[in-house]
Amino acid sequence: MSIPLAIGGGDPTIPPGTIKPWPPIDEVDRRMVLASLEGSNHAFGPNCEAFQSEFAAWNGNRLAITTNSGTAALHMALVACGCGAGDEVIVPAYSWSSSATCVLHCNAIPVFVDIDWDTINIDTAAIEAAITERTKAIIAVHLHGLAVDMNAVLAVARRHNLKVIEDACQAHGATFKGRKVGTMGDCGAFSFNQNKSLCSGEGGMFVTDDQNLCDAAAKVWSFGETRMPLEDRDYHTYALGWMYRNNDLTAAFGRAQLTKLDGYLAQQKLNAVRLTECLTDVPNLILPTAGAQFGHMYYNYTIRFDMEALGHIDNAATFRDKLVKALRAEGAATSVWQGWPLPEMTVFQARNGYGKGCPWSCPHAGKVDYDPKRFPVARRHSDWHTGMTTPLRAPNGPDVAEQVAAAIAKVMDNIDQVERIEG
Ligand SMILES: Cc1ncc(COP(=O)(O)O)c(C=O)c1O
Repeated sequence: MSIPLAIGGGDPTIPPGTIKPWPPIDEVDRRMVLASLEGSNHAFGPNCEAFQSEFAAWNGNRLAITTNSGTAALHMALVACGCGAGDEVIVPAYSWSSSATCVLHCNAIPVFVDIDWDTINIDTAAIEAAITERTKAIIAVHLHGLAVDMNAVLAVARRHNLKVIEDACQAHGATFKGRKVGTMGDCGAFSFNQNKSLCSGEGGMFVTDDQNLCDAAAKVWSFGETRMPLEDRDYHTYALGWMYRNNDLTAAFGRAQLTKLDGYLAQQKLNAVRLTECLTDVPNLILPTAGAQFGHMYYNYTIRFDMEALGHIDNAATFRDKLVKALRAEGAATSVWQGWPLPEMTVFQARNGYGKGCPWSCPHAGKVDYDPKRFPVARRHSDWHTGMTTPLRAPNGPDVAEQVAAAIAKVMDNIDQVERIEG
């Protein structure tokens, strides 16, 4: 029986106000942020130092430096690994922009590798073919809360003497073979922005076990200085540096949220598992999966609409957008996260980095090919997917997951109405 979709005037499946906002704020947050406010150091203060050591302990790293963003932490990781003019760095063709622009910040050149359809992460089997004599590092992006197969990445890296940087910005708590992301490569980066599983508004963390990498990253982080901001500074710039330090208020918020992170992640996982159970028999969906070696944290629960089965191979993105419109009208807060493979983005197509073609025209640079046809899986994923974060985050529970599933099932069972959406 056909039920009118909300986009056509029917009742929405999920009443407004059902999905609670992220992150939950309680007395712990209020107490710690207020204490910082009433303290005397609002720049890099005692909460920053405590956040570094507490996060390092939580994740299992020896060393950590807190930053004002995940992007800053990534840039620091590249510099720490010695990436510079003319070097090439392997990056997945589908990720957040700064997984690749952090390479440009070093005057180095991203070399893209297509993604694997099942995991949405870099196709580890294709990495070796992208390596040249200029390759310096591989960035393993653990996308959507699912770790990359780090055995495969580390094996290639070892064969070619490459550094491995983990972009763990979306993957707090995700594991591969029981090991947490950010502990397997040479160094890693986390983000604490609004959507992240650990949210402090903005912010990030560089992590490593290697003191030399930590020292090199710290220089970039604080004006090229070698002394920590709470030490007796000599105000001398020893290297090209930025200002990537975190501040005390944000770190206090991050510390407060960190005390609740394990509980949040457990809830997130439970909700995602429930959503998968409820969606298993819904037609024309491709649901997220993970092998037994992977502890998926479902940072972003991403589904693909089977455009082949739906008969929309040739206009997949347009039809996907109609499906998302219908889902949102039902109250299911799904969205399209990245509609572009990275190599298709203008910065790479136009090669408009530092002007005058740099870094690609740098005399040290080799030739790279950003032809979009080389990344068909990233393109198909870009066109077919939708995803969600907040509905599966604490304090929302499995009841919300069930309602989201009901909204998705309603839309997919009434696909003829979606076909009629103007668009
Ligand atoms: C995969 C990935 N890498 C890097 C970043 C950058 O993090 P931030 O926004 O904190 O700079 C993000 C977050 O947006 C991300 O999702």
